[in-house]
Amino acid sequence: LENGVARTPPMGWNTWNTFGCNIDETLIKQTADALVSSGMRDLGYQYVVVDDCWFDPNRDQAGNIQANPSRFPGGMKALGDYLHARGLKFGLYQAPLDRTCAQYFGAYPGATGSQGHEVQDARQFAAWGVDYLKYDWCSPTGTIDDQVRTFAKMRDALAATGRPILYSINPNSIHEKTGPRRDWGDVANIWRTTEDITNAWNTGQTNGYPMGIQNIVDVNVPLAGYARPGQFNDPDMMVVGRGGMNDTEMRSHFALWAVMAAPLIAGNDIRNMNSATSTIMKNQNLIAINQDPLGLQAVQVGNDGTRRVLAKRLSNGDVAVALFNQGGTTTTISTTASAVGLNGNSFTLRDAWTNAVTTTTGTISASVPSHGTVVFRVSGGTPAPPATRIQGAGSGRCL
Ligand code: DGJ
Repeated sequence: LENGVARTPPMGWNTWNTFGCNIDETLIKQTADALVSSGMRDLGYQYVVVDDCWFDPNRDQAGNIQANPSRFPGGMKALGDYLHARGLKFGLYQAPLDRTCAQYFGAYPGATGSQGHEVQDARQFAAWGVDYLKYDWCSPTGTIDDQVRTFAKMRDALAATGRPILYSINPNSIHEKTGPRRDWGDVANIWRTTEDITNAWNTGQTNGYPMGIQNIVDVNVPLAGYARPGQFNDPDMMVVGRGGMNDTEMRSHFALWAVMAAPLIAGNDIRNMNSATSTIMKNQNLIAINQDPLGLQAVQVGNDGTRRVLAKRLSNGDVAVALFNQGGTTTTISTTASAVGLNGNSFTLRDAWTNAVTTTTGTISASVPSHGTVVFRVSGGTPAPPATRIQGAGSGRCL
């Protein structure tokens, strides 16, 4: 969506993965402070997104959506001011139909969705200083066409406020039932591509709830062609620091999100992170790859069912190469500079995790532990001409 925002994938934090419906003003303010004190804000984690369950179960007499007064006694404008004063941006959740997901599933009272209130809600969000709207389809019924119409209403209502607001949508399970998967870049800045993530490596589902890291990668990788500045596939908020996986798997999760140009939205408790978690999320090599201004999503250039190679062209001519081992034992994964779209006969490889630098005449190879991902930033070549570039899926974008 060309609305001036999300020129690179958004970075930040969202309440849902750790706190679900149990949210309040204190949590948001403490997390904002922790984003600053941990150094995460300065590395780009800017958006603080308050997910479901922040609102009063009833609209006011004029139909305005209101904050839940016991959870957010200071109100949403003051909360936005608090975030802005700390150099952060303010994200809020709402749903396009009559109810939010928590309301739909009976976990929260009321029916305060935006249906019929789109313009009014968009104005309210802009008046509160909202910079990011997560808009979550919460009905198992409907068609993609219904969704396009409904999501576009809020897109237009946000645009009419004149405030740049990043528009994040969740078409939820409809695309899985009715397919095919759509390039939502005409409607939103980021769009969810899968069901909800959970803190497991593999739940065995590519089409159901919930999904592990491996399952999400399987769905999101073929959609690479849809990503570009202003519009990105969203394989869900991260679960780094949520347990359920070993450190290799956690690193792999972060590395794969980085090369897939995914939004890097932390989902853990930022106030209580251990050093392994914070080291992963603060990896500056991977953040730079994710935030590269070309805004391309890595294209898969190799997959033998166990060893997968993903390549992401970067704005200075380098290519980020991810060697991902989805098998159960350590294995060597190899590719070549020419296979990732680089001409030349002398290249430098910088390992994004260790910073070790090696040189090669073309072979790019590493021993990769089970479920691990080694990422090299490959420099020194010249990008192959477009005709021989690697073709991405989706709308035919090239590496
Ligand atoms: C479903 C979404 O996928 C989640 O990320 C979260 O927003 C919940 N809804 C909230 O109810």
